[in-house]
Amino acid sequence: MQLKSVNLFNFVAMEILDGKLVAQSVKQGLKAQTQQLIAAGKRAPHLVAILVGSDGASETYVASKIKNCEEIGYKSSLVRLETIVEETELMKIIEQFNNDDAVDGILVQLPLPKHIDEQKIINLINPSKDVDGFSPVSVGRMVLGMPSFIPATPYGIMLMLEYYKIPTSGKRAVVIGRSNIVGRPMSILLSQANSYGNCTVTVCHSRSENIESICLDADIIVVALGIPGFLKSSMVKAGAVVIDVGITRVADTTKKSGFAIKGDVDFDNVSPKCSHISPVPGGVGLMTIAALLKNTFNAYQQRNLS
Ligand code: GUN
Repeated sequence: MQLKSVNLFNFVAMEILDGKLVAQSVKQGLKAQTQQLIAAGKRAPHLVAILVGSDGASETYVASKIKNCEEIGYKSSLVRLETIVEETELMKIIEQFNNDDAVDGILVQLPLPKHIDEQKIINLINPSKDVDGFSPVSVGRMVLGMPSFIPATPYGIMLMLEYYKIPTSGKRAVVIGRSNIVGRPMSILLSQANSYGNCTVTVCHSRSENIESICLDADIIVVALGIPGFLKSSMVKAGAVVIDVGITRVADTTKKSGFAIKGDVDFDNVSPKCSHISPVPGGVGLMTIAALLKNTFNAYQQRNLS
């Protein structure tokens, strides 16, 4: 999908950053590489997803991760545990997969129930199988600019910037949100001396003052707050690139599911001002899965080299 529209007030041609298109291109490459492995008599990459409890959004994300693995020929395993599972039981299961040579990637879907220490669980995942890139080893390596697993959402956004050849060097980027999963790693990647980095980055969060004027200065805005419609047109300068990471479920009786997915950007009013904007749905969400699949392939390759 290459939608372009022209805003007659500021003459900015707007291009939609099409997550479906970019994810498809990444997945096609991975599928072809997987087919080559199979043709050479090797096994396919294997991702294990662990889901604790039955949170609706987590169920949807994990189901989609598994389905995408199947689509490109990976092996996948889903381990479902009850909300009341003991932390020690979950730790034992992770240890089993850590020691299983036929498993390349392990992900534990977050959030976990309150009685489980999330960081303790993440710390336990073998760094060579940490395809979410959340472990201290992966984060440390990423910050140092060493080869590492990069958290899937920021990695997916970088792949999207690359696909659309969006210039980043010397640009002012604002990342709204400082989570370990999205905002923090995103700010690091955009500032690094890499292709599709070299930005001057400002991180905004719940205590930031004057977010509107900070955003108005930005060439690139990444919003990862989880507040539907947070980014208004008054906060965006003409020609900015806007990346919407929000995926909040909002009640909607017109939908069969009973909810609609809303992004953090007031799309209808912001999009006419942008040079590029990612929609919700159809934007970053699909890239997150493509990036996870890429991390899983890299894990497979590295583990089979050593
Ligand atoms: N919860 C929200 N995003 C993610 C993600 O990328 N990985 C995992 N494991 N849990 C999440």
